[in-house]
Amino acid sequence: MKGYYEFETHWKIAADISSYELARYKSGADLIPDDVVSLVDIGCGNGGFLASIERQIGRDIKLQGFERSASAISNKLCKTEIVKGDIDRLDFGNQKVDLVSCLAVLEHLPEALEASLIGKMIDLTSKYILIDVPYKERRVRVACPSCGCRFDPHLHLRSYAISDIEKRFPAFKVKKKLVLSGPESLLTILIRFFRIEVSASLGGPKICPQCGTNSKEVLDSAEVGNRGERYDARLKSLLKKIQPKFILKREVFLLLEKI
Ligand SMILES: C[S@@+](CC[C@H](N)C(=O)[O-])C[C@H]1O[C@@H](n2cnc3c(N)ncnc32)[C@H](O)[C@@H]1O
Ligand SMILES: [Zn+2]
Repeated sequence: MKGYYEFETHWKIAADISSYELARYKSGADLIPDDVVSLVDIGCGNGGFLASIERQIGRDIKLQGFERSASAISNKLCKTEIVKGDIDRLDFGNQKVDLVSCLAVLEHLPEALEASLIGKMIDLTSKYILIDVPYKERRVRVACPSCGCRFDPHLHLRSYAISDIEKRFPAFKVKKKLVLSGPESLLTILIRFFRIEVSASLGGPKICPQCGTNSKEVLDSAEVGNRGERYDARLKSLLKKIQPKFILKREVFLLLEKI
């Protein structure tokens, strides 16, 4: 089954980086301490964060990316080399780097894989770990139009408070913390708050983790879908116009330093 991050469309959309994502990468790069001269970014996607470091940091840093999705790598935005591989087979041997970064990845991993990745990051770093995770997020549940599986549209398996991170990295102290906020519509806030279940075919493309159905492809392929899509687009643009927006906390960057 083709996973969420294997779809070419995902990375084609991501190549047109939104101002939110650009600001996210820039904020992450700003947290890199001056004494860092080597860095590995795990689950680097299309290398958006690495590209930001390349642009932003004047001094020479030896950079490397690690990513599972061939499609992300073939749409890469950075000059840095991205090594292809799965996190469960991650093996850096005795290699050490000053900083290991891992942005928007931990929340996607089942518990055992998350714990194993954290162990490997701890082994790989000589000093710092930089992570970015959803901050106290109230997840949404959408229903797959094909198999009925319910899932979070961003495939988040969990969210984190600062104490959750501290528990996972007991030999590290939080050196810097940065919470990022972004606009949320009233409708999304209500959906999150009351955990209202909606169809995956509403809104942007969503890929079911169970059967791999891409909700937008379902819409494109069926006549009824085309009507549905037009209705969906009209509804979306109307809602965009009339809905008030609120700025809410979304995610947190934590720079951890070995004690
Ligand atoms: C939300 S994206 C974040 C990408 C990038 N770090 C960023 O912040 O833009 C999650 C990334 O983790 C990668 N990923 C998820 N599970 C993985 C695994 N088991 N092995 C390697 N990479 C994985 C996905 O392919 C995807 O690129
Ligand atoms: Zn499904």
